[in-house]
Amino acid sequence: MKISLLAILMAVLVIGGCSKPKGVFKPGQLWLDNNGVHLNAHGGGIMIHDNTYYWFGEHKTEGKAGNKALVGVHCYSSKDLYNWKDEGVALSVVSDTTSLIVKGCVIERPKVIFNAKTKKFVMWFHHELKGMGYDAAMTGLAVSDHVTGPYQYIKSMNPNAGVWPINYPDSLKTRKVDMDTIKQWSPTWRKEVELGYFLRRDFEKGQMARDMTLFVDDDGKAYHIHSSENNQTLHISELTEDYLGFSDKYTRVLEGKANEAPALFKRGNQYYMISSGCTGWKPNPARSAMATHPLGKWTELGNPSQGSEEDVRTTFHSQSTFVLPLIGQKDAYVYMGDRWVPNNAIDGRYIWLPMEFEADRPIVKWYAEWDLSIFNEGENE
Ligand code: DGJ
Repeated sequence: MKISLLAILMAVLVIGGCSKPKGVFKPGQLWLDNNGVHLNAHGGGIMIHDNTYYWFGEHKTEGKAGNKALVGVHCYSSKDLYNWKDEGVALSVVSDTTSLIVKGCVIERPKVIFNAKTKKFVMWFHHELKGMGYDAAMTGLAVSDHVTGPYQYIKSMNPNAGVWPINYPDSLKTRKVDMDTIKQWSPTWRKEVELGYFLRRDFEKGQMARDMTLFVDDDGKAYHIHSSENNQTLHISELTEDYLGFSDKYTRVLEGKANEAPALFKRGNQYYMISSGCTGWKPNPARSAMATHPLGKWTELGNPSQGSEEDVRTTFHSQSTFVLPLIGQKDAYVYMGDRWVPNNAIDGRYIWLPMEFEADRPIVKWYAEWDLSIFNEGENE
C-alpha cells in the first residue's frame, strides 16, 4: 500500500513537472553554466542550429581592462535556454602583433549566422584596433565549418567604400559644408549630420561601423545593421549571398537619431528594431522602430520599456543586444540586454525579459523571475 501511494505521488510529480519548463530566468543575477561559472558572452546574440541555441558573446575578463578583447568570443549551447553548456572560445585573439585581432584590441557584439548554400558559419563583430580607442570603427569577419568554431579570422573593414546608400538623394552628394565653423552639437551641426556630413566624409574610405547585429530574413537574405556616421545614424546593409561581404546595397536609418545596440526581429510581415541611445556603458531609455522591409523606411515607435520611472529611464539597467525568436513557437521573443559592469567587465549581467506586444508595438516589462510558460498564457482563454 505504502509503495503504491509513493508511486502515485511520484507520477503526479513527474507529470506536473513535465508541464512546466524546467528552469527559470532571473534577470540581473549570476547565471551559471554547466561548470558552475557565470556565463561569459556579453553583447551577445543567439543563432539557432539543429534545434539548439548557440549563444556567442564577448569573453570579458576582470577589471576595467577586461572590456578589451583579451580572450575572444565565447560560445555556449542550450536546448532549453535556461541551462548552458560551455562550448569554449569560438574566436580567439592572437599574440601576433601584426594581426588586427591581436590581444588587447576591442571585439564587441559578435553575431553568427549560417549560410545554407556554403554551409559556413559566418561571424561578424564590431572591431576596434589595439591602441586606437574606438577610432577604427570597423566590422570584422570570421568563418568556421563548425558552429562552435574555431572561427578563422578573415578581415576587418570600414564597409561600403565608394557606395552611396540607396536612400541618399543625389542633391546631397555634392553638398559642401565647413563643419569647423559650426559649433558641435548645435542645431545647425545636428542638421548637417542628419543630412550626411559624416557619410560624405567617409565615402571614399568606407563607413564607420560600431555597435552591430545581423538579421537573416525568411528568403535567406542577410543584413548587417550597425551604428555609423559617428554613432549618429544607423546603416542597414544587405550582405552578399555567401554572407562574407557587403552587396553594395544599403540604407541610412533614423538619420541623426544616435542609435546604438541595434537588435532586429521579424513578426508576421513586420520588421522591428530595439535600440538604445549613446551613453557609453551607462544605461539609457531604449527605443523601438518598425519597417515593412529591412531596407525600407523605419518608423519610430518609442520606448518599449514599461514599469517604474527608473525601469523606463534605464531599460531595467540594461542595453539591448538581441531579440531571440523561440524555436517552434509563433510570436514568442525574448529581449536580451546587457547590464554592463565597466569596472569589472566579467561581472556584467544579462537581462532577459519576455517581449510582449500591445497593438503591434513591442513592450518589455520587468519580471524578477519568469519562465517560458509566459508565452502560453492566455492560450486557453
Ligand atoms: C556602448 C556600446 O553599446 C557598447 O557595445 C560599448 O561599445 C560601449 N558603448 C563602450 O563605451
